[in-house]
Amino acid sequence: MFRKILPYAKKYRKETVWTSLLVLGEVLLEIFIPLLMADMVDKAIPSGELAYVIKLGGLMILMALISLTCGAAAARVASVAGAGFGSDVRAALFNKIQQFSFANVDRYSKPSLITRLTTDINYIQMTFMMVIRILARGPMMLVSAGIMAYVMNPRLTPIFVVGILVFSVGMVALFQICYPRLMVMLKKYDGLNAAIQENLIAIRVVKAFVRADFEKQKFRKANDENMEMSVRCERIMNLQMPLILLIMYGSITAVIWFGGQMVIEGSFLTGQMVSFVGYVTQILMSMIMIAQVLVSTIMTRASITRIGEVLDEQVEILDPPEPAEGYPAVADGSIEFDHVFFSYHQESEQPNLSEINLRIKPGQTVGIIGGTGSAKTSLVQLIPRLYDVTGGSVRVGGRDVREYRVHDLREAVSMVLQKNVLFSGTIRENLLWGDAEATQEEIEAACRAAQAHDFISAFPDGYNTDLGQGGVNVSGGQKQRLCIARALLKKPKILILDDSTSAVDTATDAKIRQAFRENLKDTTKIIIAQRVSSVSDADQIIVMDDGRIDAVGTHEELLATNEIYREVYHSQQKGVA
Ligand SMILES: Nc1ncnc2c1ncn2[C@@H]1O[C@H](COP(=O)(O)OP(=O)(O)OP(=O)(O)O)[C@@H](O)[C@H]1O
Ligand SMILES: [Mg+2]
Repeated sequence: MFRKILPYAKKYRKETVWTSLLVLGEVLLEIFIPLLMADMVDKAIPSGELAYVIKLGGLMILMALISLTCGAAAARVASVAGAGFGSDVRAALFNKIQQFSFANVDRYSKPSLITRLTTDINYIQMTFMMVIRILARGPMMLVSAGIMAYVMNPRLTPIFVVGILVFSVGMVALFQICYPRLMVMLKKYDGLNAAIQENLIAIRVVKAFVRADFEKQKFRKANDENMEMSVRCERIMNLQMPLILLIMYGSITAVIWFGGQMVIEGSFLTGQMVSFVGYVTQILMSMIMIAQVLVSTIMTRASITRIGEVLDEQVEILDPPEPAEGYPAVADGSIEFDHVFFSYHQESEQPNLSEINLRIKPGQTVGIIGGTGSAKTSLVQLIPRLYDVTGGSVRVGGRDVREYRVHDLREAVSMVLQKNVLFSGTIRENLLWGDAEATQEEIEAACRAAQAHDFISAFPDGYNTDLGQGGVNVSGGQKQRLCIARALLKKPKILILDDSTSAVDTATDAKIRQAFRENLKDTTKIIIAQRVSSVSDADQIIVMDDGRIDAVGTHEELLATNEIYREVYHSQQKGVA
C-alpha cells in the first residue's frame, strides 16, 4: 500500500535526514536540562554562591534556546518537504487522470476523484510532515529520558514502566473504537463532495426547476452525516487527554511519594527527584507523540489506499508497441466495422452494440438516425477509439484502430461530442484547440463553414470575446457551431457530428451541410441527427435500433423499405405541415 507513495517521499531523503538531525539536537539538549536542574537544587543553591547559580541558570537558558531553535528549524524543513511531497503526489495523480480513457473515467465518480486530489492528499501531506518530525523525536526522547531516569534512580523505574503500559493499552482501546467510525467519515466526504459538485454543475437546472430547497436539504443531510461522524469520532478521541493527564499526574505523585521517602532516608537528593519528575514527564510526552504518529498514519492509510487505487488504475486505451517501421499514418477516411460487439461493462449480458458491419468510403457523407438510447453515440465513439470494441474490429484507413498511435488516430478523426464543452478563455483560444498554429484566415474559413463567423463578428470584441467558464456567454446553438468550427480546424480525415446541430435552426443546418459538401470533399462526414432533414441528402443512412443496425440505404431506399425510417420521416413531416 505504501509502495505506491514511497517513491515520491524518496525525493525528500535529504530533508528527512536534516529533520532527524535537528530533532536529535533538540532532544539531547532537552535531556540535559533536568540534569542541570538537579545540580542547581542540590549544589548551586545550597552553596550560596551567586556566580555559580547565574552560570548554571545561564547555561540552562542557552540550552533551552538552542533546543528551541533546532525544533523550529526541524519543523520548517519538515513542512517544506511535506508540501513538496504533497504537490508531487498531486501532480502524479493529475497526470494519471489525464491518461484515463473514457472507460476509466466511468469507473470513478468526479467527486471521488476530487476528494482524492484534495482531502486525501492533504492528509498524507500532513502525516508525512508529522512522521519525519515526530517519529524521530518520540523514540529518541523516550530512550534517552528512560536511560537518564534509570541511571538516576533504578528503584523508581517501575513507575514509568507502568505508566507506559497503561497508556499503550488505553490508546489501543480508544483507537479500536474510533477506527471504524473514521472510515465511515471518509466515505461520507465523498457523499458531501458529490452533493456539492452535482449541484454546482447543474445549478441552472436546479434554479429552472425551483429545486433549491430540495438541494439544500440534500446538502444538509450529507453535511450533517459528516458532522455526526466527526463528532462521534472526536468524542472518543477526546478521552485521550484525560487519560494522558491521569497517567502523568499519577506517575508524578508516585515519584514524589516514593522518591520523597528516599530523600528522607537520605538515599536520593531533592534536586535529583525534581529532575526525575522532569524525565517522567518527557517519557510520557514522547509516548503521546508516538501515539499521535501511529494514529495519523493509520488514519492516512485509507487516503493512501484511495490515491494508490488511482495511480494503479490500468489505463485501458494505450498506444500499441511501436512497430520496426514506425507507427502507421492514417491513410484516408475509409471506415469499416467488422462483426463489432461492444459493452460498456464487461459483465453485462446484453451488449450495447451487436453484430455491426459497415463499409464507408473516404469522402462519403453518412447519416445515422435512431431513437434515443439506440446506441448511435456508442457506435461512433469506437472510431476515434474513445472506447475499445469488445469483439470484432473497427478499421480506419484500412487498418485496425488499435494499430495507430492514439494521438495520430485522434488527429485524423475529429469528433464533436454530444455533450460538448467550451473552456474559459476567448473564442479564438477555444478554436485554437483544434489547431494551435491556425492563422486568422483558417479560423475564419472554419467559422464560415460552421456558420459561426457572422454571429462572432457581431460581438463587439469579435474573435476575442471572452466566453466565460464553460462557454456561458453564448447560446446553445452558437456553442454548437463553435464546437463544429473547432473540429473543422483539425482538418480531419473523418468528421463526426454527434447531434451537433440539434440547437441550430433547419436553414442554418442546411447551410452547414452545404459548406461541408463544398469544402470537405475528401473528409468522411458522419452526422448523427434526430431530424431526417439533416441526413436525407447523405450517401448512406444508417438506421439504428436497440444496439443493432436495422437498415442501411439512401433516403429513397429507406423510405421504400424501412419501417422505422418511414415512421420517423412521417411524424416529422406532419410536424412541418
Ligand atoms: N458511459 C456509459 N456507461 C454505461 N452505459 C452507457 C454509457 N453510455 C451509454 N450507455 C448505454 O448505452 C446505450 C446506448 O447509449 P447511446 O448513448 O449510444 O445512445 P444514443 O443512441 O446516442 O442516444 P441519444 O440519441 O439519446 O444520444 C444506452 O442504453 C445507455 O444506457
Ligand atoms: Mg447519443
